[in-house]
Amino acid sequence: MPKYKIATLPGDGIGVDVMEAAKIISEKLALDAEYIHGDVGWEFWCKEGNPLPDRTLTLLKNTDCCLFGAITSKPKEEAEAELSPHLKEKGLSYRSPIVRLRQELNLRTNLRPCKAYPGNPLNYRDDIDLVVFRENTEDLYSGVEYHPVPKEVRDILDQTHPRMGRFAEVPNEDMAISLRIVTKKACENIIRDAFEYAASQNRKSVTVVEKPNVIRETSGMMVRTAREIAKEYRNVELWETNIDAMCMWLVKNPEDYGVLVTSNMFGDIVSDLCAQLVGGLGFASSGNIGDDYALFEPTHGSAPKYAGQYKVNPTAMLLATKLMLDWLGEKEMAENLEAAIASVIKDGKVRTYDMEGSSTTLEVAQEVANKF
Ligand code: IPM
Ligand code: MG
Repeated sequence: MPKYKIATLPGDGIGVDVMEAAKIISEKLALDAEYIHGDVGWEFWCKEGNPLPDRTLTLLKNTDCCLFGAITSKPKEEAEAELSPHLKEKGLSYRSPIVRLRQELNLRTNLRPCKAYPGNPLNYRDDIDLVVFRENTEDLYSGVEYHPVPKEVRDILDQTHPRMGRFAEVPNEDMAISLRIVTKKACENIIRDAFEYAASQNRKSVTVVEKPNVIRETSGMMVRTAREIAKEYRNVELWETNIDAMCMWLVKNPEDYGVLVTSNMFGDIVSDLCAQLVGGLGFASSGNIGDDYALFEPTHGSAPKYAGQYKVNPTAMLLATKLMLDWLGEKEMAENLEAAIASVIKDGKVRTYDMEGSSTTLEVAQEVANKF
């Protein structure tokens, strides 16, 4: 029996292209693993009314970890319009499979490294080495939303919250509510992960990125928890920055920051900003990490217009493979893979279009594979 069972879920669009690139790497790595394909994505929404079929969830439960490509998500009306005729008007509603996986498998920590590899012409600066810890299961992604707002919900809010008075004249159907739900446990987990990482990597600071001056309760809980946990780590300073100012500081002095920790929505936003500082989404990998399962993916989307053209940069997917190796404890393989990726970037001979090259997705992967 192989040592590891790894689920591979290419998903939609360029997810398929970059998963093929990852396959070139995994064959070369000679990791003692069995790779098992799983169905996920838009095709299964249209054909089966479920973009994340139960058989895929079962597959994940029987594997050690997962490599994931990318997913197409569309707004409500478009999603319903593309359903097979026999599934229409059944009241099915589309839910992002990746968001569902993060919640159902409790992959509570989203780790997003953004490191500038020297020689990348797209780097904003060469000395950027940031890691974003994004809470991955709660906040505005909880999926607790109302439209129109049911009368009972409205009544409770009217009775319990003085600020509802200013909405008194608004009809229920002209109001939408998306709840930002944050729990103390989730704050503790993500903040502790960020501090543990900072301490183990000799990073001098952890910056908690929130907005407690306005979003007093949820952001307040994150910041208060960060202050408590920071006391346990003598060698790591806690910095506190509001999300808006953080965006400004990251553009001004990104080299000052090491580890950022934030809630789900802010983490989604700020991690795209961080990705652009080191060359864009083509370089941004992420690990969705739980207590005993993890899923690794590039942070880019499915980019339908490039699907099947083998044009896009596979680096994010290859770096996601590196994160997977780290998580599996295959440190040496992880280091070798990262060194190979860095050396291909530095050589500059084999580059995709985003780096002003003309190589294909698979040529870049092959060049990386040739280096180790
Ligand atoms: C990400 C993506 C996802 C998110 C989408 C595809 C649901 O933007 O992983 O950053 O919002 O988390
Ligand atoms: Mg995002």
